[in-house]
Amino acid sequence: MEAAAGGVDDMTKLSYLHEPGVLQNLATRYELNEIYTYTGNILIAVNPFQRLQHLYDSHMMQQYKGAPFGELSPHVFAVADVAYRAMIHEGRSNSILVSGESGAGKTETTKMLMQYLAYLGGRAATEGRTVEQQVLESNPVLEAFGNAKTVRNNNSSRFGKFVEIQFDKHGRISGAAVRTYLLERSRVCQISDPERNYHCFYLLCAAPQEELDKYKLENPRTYHYLNKSNCYDLVGVSDAREYLATRRAMDIVGISTQEQDAIFRVVAAILHIGNIEFAKGKEVDSSVLKDDKSKFHLETAAELLMCDPGAFTDALCKRVMVTPEEVIKRSLDPYSATISRDGFAKTIYSRLFDWLVDKINSSIGQDANSKCLIGVLDIYGFESFKSNSFEQFCINYTNEKLQQHFNQHVFKMEQEEYTKEQIDWSYIEFVDNQDVLDLIEKASVMLIWSCCCRVQSNTSQLVPIWPKLSFT
Ligand SMILES: Nc1ncnc2c1ncn2[C@@H]1O[C@H](COP(=O)(O)OP(=O)(O)OP(=O)(O)O)[C@@H](O)[C@H]1O
Ligand SMILES: [Mg+2]
Repeated sequence: MEAAAGGVDDMTKLSYLHEPGVLQNLATRYELNEIYTYTGNILIAVNPFQRLQHLYDSHMMQQYKGAPFGELSPHVFAVADVAYRAMIHEGRSNSILVSGESGAGKTETTKMLMQYLAYLGGRAATEGRTVEQQVLESNPVLEAFGNAKTVRNNNSSRFGKFVEIQFDKHGRISGAAVRTYLLERSRVCQISDPERNYHCFYLLCAAPQEELDKYKLENPRTYHYLNKSNCYDLVGVSDAREYLATRRAMDIVGISTQEQDAIFRVVAAILHIGNIEFAKGKEVDSSVLKDDKSKFHLETAAELLMCDPGAFTDALCKRVMVTPEEVIKRSLDPYSATISRDGFAKTIYSRLFDWLVDKINSSIGQDANSKCLIGVLDIYGFESFKSNSFEQFCINYTNEKLQQHFNQHVFKMEQEEYTKEQIDWSYIEFVDNQDVLDLIEKASVMLIWSCCCRVQSNTSQLVPIWPKLSFT
């Protein structure tokens, strides 16, 4: 049988379910702006790279509400609708897993899923902000602090996220919890052309002048943590507007003006910290601030973080070792002090991010009585750069794990079911990535991994000898 001229809306309708057929079908549909296609109960979304407003308006939401799965054209709303109805009618919690490589459109899809769930479980507009508004507005806040431009995606998630939306017995959203995983810390201090650091740094540098004066900030090109790349602006994005939008989203989520000020103080302090440079001190292997500029940045950072500049300098230029007998303070040479400075910046940034997530959770509130929830998982997609760090290793391993979960459900369990019911079927070939997982998960590999590293004599750091991997 020839494939229909406009392609088929479900891959299972293809007479030959093989890779060329699947790709051909997706391409045919994509040409017609049909970005969604089913494969049984799985939805494949192809990134349109353009706003298809008509696909997501309120009319569309009304249409999909309660419509039997498969009756209407494939759509992300249909998937959310099935999950919601199963929850209401069968009292079952559900999770929706969004996977794909970096830039595929996972985060955008997640936001549409959440928007639709908020539509289904939203309350009638009342005074003040609603839980669903807070849940939706948590997205731009988290994106400002956890997303960045990479070579693959201008708004790439640099953390994993699992959002649990809780519902009461009437099917109304009653609370939510956001869990995040493994923020990419190295980005705070190290970026390469044409990538950017986390959006929040550029947003703050584009803030109104009185804010810049408050944080003693200048042009982003001034800051070492930003000027290692020549990319400062994103096409079609105004950082100044995004700054105000982020502030508004923070208001809705329930982060007070005072707290917002504290958050941006930390962001500004990190930029100043990156500009603190060290020179050799009088004693052997010791360091001092390089010049007046470094002194200015250190004092400003200390002021913003509300700590004593002397103690702060000590914290960067000295290492404290606690032994059972005594506390030993050792001076650091300029190279080691720079590493200590970067370590400090990365740590306070990741703590700030964790604090934000906690704040969002406490502000939205959890419903302890909720019996049902719908979880939505959006992680960072598979990526491979010219130079890959341990973080890419973790990101790609997570993606392999998800792929295995997919394989289990789509191929293995389904085929076991056929065998059990003695249904006549032909075995579907698929690439099982279990070997990849075994390679990483089995203890012997950890040994190989550690053998790939040597200890650098001057800094006592683990340095990989695997050519394409570098620790940061
Ligand atoms: N359904 C969509 N409609 C319009 N544009 C989209 C859609 N999906 C994705 N895009 C575009 O593609 C870009 C990348 O998508 P997104 O950030 O969701 O990718 P991702 O899969 O989350 O990648 P990463 O793993 O890097 O976080 C978006 O910024 C947006 O411009
Ligand atoms: Mg993403």
